[in-house]
Amino acid sequence: MMARRITVSIVVVSAVIVAVIYISGLFSGEDDGLRRSFSDPEAELKKLPVVQLVGATRKRGDEPRAVISAEIASRFKPISRKRASDKLEEGLARARAAVRRVASLRNKSVIIDSNHSISSSIYRNPNAFLQSYKEMERRLKVYVYEEGELPIVHDGPCKDIYTSEGRFIHEMEHGSHRFKTSRPEQAHLYFMPFSVTWMVKYLYSPNTYNLTPLLEFVSDYVKLISTKHPFWNRTQGADHFMLSCHDWGPRASEGNARLYSTSIRVLCNANSSEGFNPQKDVSLPEIRLYGGYVDPKLISPPPPTAQRPHLAFFAGGLHGPVRPVLLHHWKGRDPDLHIYEYLPKNLNYYDYMLKSKFCLCPSGYEVASPRIVEAIYAECIPVILSDHYILPFSDVLRWEAFSLQVNVSEIARLKEILIGVSEDKVLRLKEGLRGIRKHFVLNQPAERFDMFHMILHSVWLRRLNLRF
Ligand SMILES: *[C@@H]1O[C@H](CO)[C@@H](O)[C@H](O)[C@H]1NC(C)=O
Ligand SMILES: *[C@@H]1O[C@H](CO)[C@@H](O)[C@H](O)[C@H]1NC(C)=O
Ligand SMILES: *[C@@H]1O[C@H](CO)[C@@H](O)[C@H](O)[C@H]1NC(C)=O
Ligand SMILES: *[C@@H]1O[C@H](CO)[C@@H](O)[C@H](O)[C@H]1NC(C)=O
Ligand SMILES: *[C@@H]1O[C@H](CO)[C@@H](O)[C@H](O)[C@H]1NC(C)=O
Repeated sequence: MMARRITVSIVVVSAVIVAVIYISGLFSGEDDGLRRSFSDPEAELKKLPVVQLVGATRKRGDEPRAVISAEIASRFKPISRKRASDKLEEGLARARAAVRRVASLRNKSVIIDSNHSISSSIYRNPNAFLQSYKEMERRLKVYVYEEGELPIVHDGPCKDIYTSEGRFIHEMEHGSHRFKTSRPEQAHLYFMPFSVTWMVKYLYSPNTYNLTPLLEFVSDYVKLISTKHPFWNRTQGADHFMLSCHDWGPRASEGNARLYSTSIRVLCNANSSEGFNPQKDVSLPEIRLYGGYVDPKLISPPPPTAQRPHLAFFAGGLHGPVRPVLLHHWKGRDPDLHIYEYLPKNLNYYDYMLKSKFCLCPSGYEVASPRIVEAIYAECIPVILSDHYILPFSDVLRWEAFSLQVNVSEIARLKEILIGVSEDKVLRLKEGLRGIRKHFVLNQPAERFDMFHMILHSVWLRRLNLRF
């Protein structure tokens, strides 16, 4: 009975997916004149909507749906019909057609290699995902703008809470060259490698809450690249992307109205109530790496059948709108729920995660929480307590297969909900966690299907849905 209630609260996750469905809906309804200019692959395309990429989803949950409107559709209207890069567009059309062709196969699982397969219990559509991933490997070319100087451009933090920002920028700048091109006219996507975290460090005066210097920097950067190169103006920035894990990433992107409304923004702070648009923006996992490395304790979690003595664990400050509610109801209230504001010095945070069945991941000052990825590493089932959070890679992954989502309004019933999850389901969720762990790992150099590639794939998916 409890399990059913949980299912209801998990529905939020699928709302995100509904949003993805709408992307395709928008684009398939549009600019027919243009699309006719592509020959066979595009004709093929029309037969199968990208809807199938995300599989059958429950269309409950209204929030992302409300974000989507004709207004957004108009942002993607063709800007110019005379692109020198018709060949690029044809390649993209072929990629779309290939994805759509396999999307209808609906295999229960798809083999990646002798050691890996992906299954429909965890992925929305294994065939479509694997195909779009392979199309990315086969075709994707990203141009990284050379404009701008250190320390704010071409670098970012690779330690602590904003690790994912710096590691992605570094990977694009210095890592695998497979996806990079030095010839911008051959690129599908254009990356603006500035770091909002470093803007905060170097441009912001502490305690002023004056973000103008950040907005000015972003505005100047876009002005610079759009004056020096033809690419930005060609699409009004629609094939350009930025990435930031800082809480103020979304605010900084307001420095240019087109960047905000049209470009792909890859953000940890993916708050759909604050302009994050799951149709075009990408939710970036937040990863906290003290010293730049995963804590050794989290490298090899205990076997799935090992006893976890604690039902649930959380430790963290009273930040943001959700945690006060959680702490109010549960701090020091119940011996099964280990809920701390500050963890006593003699206790170890990661040991706690490894000994707990559920790890609570409430929003803080922003929607994302590094706890989610830590919980994935610890194979402690993440319990997402967050309003308006668009979860990372949710266009590909079924979050309900490896996490719980509990509505903030149900926090008072949290214990009841958690003890209502059957042992069977706990084992399945843990299996799910083991399955998706690789997507949340940062490797140096990057490896197939790891976090770098999953981020890039999310951006690629949005580019695939784009028409000029
Ligand atoms: C979460 O709770 C609020 C307030 O009760 C409600 O309006 C909302 O629909 C709920 N969301 C889901 C997905 O159940
Ligand atoms: C999917 O299933 C079809 C039909 O059973 C099979 O021919 C194909 O090889 C499968 N695809 C993959 C990628 O496993
Ligand atoms: C599969 O795993 C084995 C043992 O770990 C390894 O030697 C082999 O290279 C792996 N194969 C692939 C395709 O990754
Ligand atoms: C792009 O448009 C802006 C504003 O209209 C203009 O100032 C700029 O010169 C244009 N860039 C190029 C390369 O033509
Ligand atoms: C998300 O945005 C809404 C609307 O601005 C805000 O009320 C809420 O506090 C934000 N969530 C977090 C965790 O910051």
